[in-house]
Amino acid sequence: MPTNSIPTRGRTLDYAANVYDFFESILLLGKQAEYDQKIIQLLDLKPSDKVLDLGCGTGVLCKMIGEKLDTQSGGSVTGIDAAGNMIKVARKKRGAANIYFKAMAAENLDFEDECFDAVVSSLFFHHVPLDLKEKALSEAYRVLKPGGRLVIADMHRPTTMMGAIVSHISRWFFMQPQIAENIRGVLPQLIASAGFAQPHIETMYFGYIAVFTSRK
Ligand SMILES: C[S@@+](CC[C@H](N)C(=O)[O-])C[C@H]1O[C@@H](n2cnc3c(N)ncnc32)[C@H](O)[C@@H]1O
Repeated sequence: MPTNSIPTRGRTLDYAANVYDFFESILLLGKQAEYDQKIIQLLDLKPSDKVLDLGCGTGVLCKMIGEKLDTQSGGSVTGIDAAGNMIKVARKKRGAANIYFKAMAAENLDFEDECFDAVVSSLFFHHVPLDLKEKALSEAYRVLKPGGRLVIADMHRPTTMMGAIVSHISRWFFMQPQIAENIRGVLPQLIASAGFAQPHIETMYFGYIAVFTSRK
């Protein structure tokens, strides 16, 4: 299986793959398990579901999803990330019979139309510019079966003072204009424009990470 990085204008995290798990657990302030469980609950999984995770990083969420699925019934989860090093770490730490990892750009998915029951994404969309956000959503729409579920957790318009401070500091510290787009609140409109039902914000974490749900 090739694990070369895929060219993209997104901010990939090849350089951080080996330390990513450590820093993410700190950034999510000890709430990572609760946050991942909430996403999984909203995915409303059936044992035979085929699930796609966009920008999967080291595959923590994929592993938890895979444990809810039944391999014998055809249940599987596929995590894609444009960073080859992330895919290498994910395969090594979290690969399993029904948990696949592939190096791929979310804006150019190498999957057939309507082959997934659910698409999920955590903290990926603030890594890509507006046009790639649009392309990734339209690709998610294409590969989802009719009625398929979409759950996206990502930076959004802050709802608390602390959330505003953290998100604006992140935007400038990481020199990441893609974060500014999320802070402006572009995601719900982009999700709807890709063809999905108007998304709901199910919950907010830390005053700046929204968890959106929608359907094809
Ligand atoms: C902040 S990490 C999130 C990882 C994981 N989903 C999580 O919640 O911990 C964002 C990920 O998006 C990946 N990424 C950036 N641009 C991408 C693209 N165009 N297609 C796929 N993945 C991309 C990065 O390499 C990185 O692993």
